[in-house]
Amino acid sequence: MNAAGTHANRVRKVVFPVAGLGTRFLPATKVVAKEMLPVLDRPLIQYAVDEAVDAGADTLVFVTNRYKHAIADYFDSAYELEETLERAGKHELLSLIQGLLPPHVRCVYVTQEQALGLGHAVLCAKPVIGDEPFGVILPDDLIVGEGGSALRQMVDLAAVEDAGVLAVEEVPREDTGKYGIVDVGGAHDSAAAIRHVVEKPQPEHAPSNLAIVGRYVLPARIFELLEGTRPGAGGEIQLTDAIDALIAESKVLACRFAGTRFDCGNKSGLVRATLHFAMQDPALAKVAREFMA
Ligand code: G1P
Repeated sequence: MNAAGTHANRVRKVVFPVAGLGTRFLPATKVVAKEMLPVLDRPLIQYAVDEAVDAGADTLVFVTNRYKHAIADYFDSAYELEETLERAGKHELLSLIQGLLPPHVRCVYVTQEQALGLGHAVLCAKPVIGDEPFGVILPDDLIVGEGGSALRQMVDLAAVEDAGVLAVEEVPREDTGKYGIVDVGGAHDSAAAIRHVVEKPQPEHAPSNLAIVGRYVLPARIFELLEGTRPGAGGEIQLTDAIDALIAESKVLACRFAGTRFDCGNKSGLVRATLHFAMQDPALAKVAREFMA
């Protein structure tokens, strides 16, 4: 806390890169944005946004493409639907759709004109973020935190350590080519200083099997570094490469959050997440158990 009694490092803004095409879920994603795919009755983006709000965010920045209006429509008020529910006396449903976001939270939409990579998507949010630390959530990675959301755990760590923070998790060695991989120089606790990060290394070149899993707390300095980042793995401007440059000049920690991640960027992860939430609901848990028996 500074002399004015405010948290200088508080993360108020969270960026959601949501311009991707979601080809793994075609044909559904021909018309449905992948972030709108439901886990039970809530779209993936709702879980991500709830996590940001839990972490203290009041400004949600969606980096989208010009074809994707579903997310803005979802968070917008639906006057006709609301009036119909009101007239029908369906007050519970009405407050459900009116309460998708707390009143103090606002949404900002930024267009990524060309699909040049995750780093480029984050850079598109620069004019909205300005000069403060911010969070990034990739909604494909649905994380059920223990004792607070994953992003909250990271934001707390970032404030205490005055550092950037990346969420990490061990993945099978053969999967390193799907992730940004961190090098923390051997065994470590729940938080460790990162020495190096590399995007999607093949297993034989990976410095570890500790993968970045879709949550970041970063200083605004990352934007200048992104501006100087050349296309990397897959010919894309990679956030990981800019973070590697950041590590050379300031502290960035790997955080093994307490919680469970579901990789909803693929079908098996979406099934697991759906089963996880179904098992929390006694009636659905019964249905699931009977079906599996
Ligand atoms: C992105 C990042 C990668 C990270 C991954 C987590 O990759 O570039 O560093 O490990 O998200 O889900 P993508 O899944 O977009 O290829």
